[in-house]
Amino acid sequence: MKVKVEKYPGLSIGNNGHLCFSGADCVRLAKQFGTPLYVISEDVFRDTCRAQRAAFEKHCPDAHISFSTKALTALALMRIAVQEGLGLDASSPGELFGALKAGCKPENTILHGNFKKAEDLEFALGKKVGRIVVDSFEEIEELDAVARRMKVRARVQVRVNPGVEAHTFELLKVGMLDSKFGLPLQNGDALEAVRRILKKKNLDFMGVHYHIGSQILDPSPFRIAAERAMEFLLALRREAGATVRELNIGGGLPVRYDSRHPMPTPEQFARQVCGTVKKIAKDNGLDMPRIILEPGRSVAGPAGITLYTVGPVKHIPGIRDYVTVDGGLSDNVRPGLYGATYDGLLANKAASAARMKPFRVCGRHCETDTLFQSLHLPDPAYGDILAVLSTGAYNYSMSSNYNKFPRPAMVAVSKGKARLIMERETYADLYRKDLTEGKG
Ligand SMILES: Cc1ncc(COP(=O)(O)O)c(C=O)c1O
Repeated sequence: MKVKVEKYPGLSIGNNGHLCFSGADCVRLAKQFGTPLYVISEDVFRDTCRAQRAAFEKHCPDAHISFSTKALTALALMRIAVQEGLGLDASSPGELFGALKAGCKPENTILHGNFKKAEDLEFALGKKVGRIVVDSFEEIEELDAVARRMKVRARVQVRVNPGVEAHTFELLKVGMLDSKFGLPLQNGDALEAVRRILKKKNLDFMGVHYHIGSQILDPSPFRIAAERAMEFLLALRREAGATVRELNIGGGLPVRYDSRHPMPTPEQFARQVCGTVKKIAKDNGLDMPRIILEPGRSVAGPAGITLYTVGPVKHIPGIRDYVTVDGGLSDNVRPGLYGATYDGLLANKAASAARMKPFRVCGRHCETDTLFQSLHLPDPAYGDILAVLSTGAYNYSMSSNYNKFPRPAMVAVSKGKARLIMERETYADLYRKDLTEGKG
């Protein structure tokens, strides 16, 4: 039941028995910056960016990787992604604002969303966004009207729904027919959408986009989706005379959440996708579209851990034992939202030889707030430091202020050194927009 620390990039155990991340002692980090604390390894983050680029560029040399900022909307990390040659994708104008603030060139940004309002489109075009991924017939009309008013030509990709079932959490599956995202390939809506775009003077049709889901451990749905997309590209040539310059395959590559499970490599995904696209293009005399991918979780997830201070430990005889930590639902909603599971260990007892016993780990929110249904720990006690692993993605970015807990600070660690990249919120921050007397 012991977590295999060596399976997690950047993690090690120091001579003093403490957990270290990128060479930084996690117990010392907790003392210096307080808890809960998001810790991001800059080294691991850079490595994941590089590994994904290397894997896809090996098979498709002009592949472009766009970091999906929704996974970790921290300016310092988005900036590093840009330094590593990645573009940034945004699923809202707020994320686009952040991507630009982090230093991404406008042409390397992509805007998503299943309902972008006219003001969102205007904002994005005003900022010279690289691509807008249209998701509905209504949006095609709205975007064309906005672009016409602004006297610009919007470069668009069409989000299609390939009807592929990926084996992941129910709420993370979005590529099957029954989904709010995309225009279905099956019923001809996707083809009709491209036809309409081609008639619009202010829209420049660049390509096709799909995203089949997140945390997909088996690469084969990627191959099936690529096959369906390529059939669509052939239909577009045949029936609409359309040239597709870009094929955007979305995100979905997985991250390790359990040290006992095998993990596919980015290379396996790249081979499935690029191999399929290249073969179908070659067999049919189609120009190879540029492959774009938008990984979020697989880039940010392994780069982050969260540190908590252990509070009361309760023994309920004949039922179970509880460990309480000083965070929970507001800094990590995933266990509550869809039963996500993690590995965790006590950072100050990482080398402990004490017998491991199962504990339910809960937070301090006024909710059931379970972080771990059952986590094996060696003698947890008040004041210990619990490290939860692989929390770099969708933890900070999905955080809230429920119960008016301030959001944690975030530090970046590299080669043993730490720097604060996000300040801990204060109580005053929590009420900054709250108008006691009202106005207007
Ligand atoms: C359009 C799109 N692209 C990329 C992503 C990133 O996915 P992941 O974090 O699984 O890589 C998502 C996630 O929801 C998405 O909706």
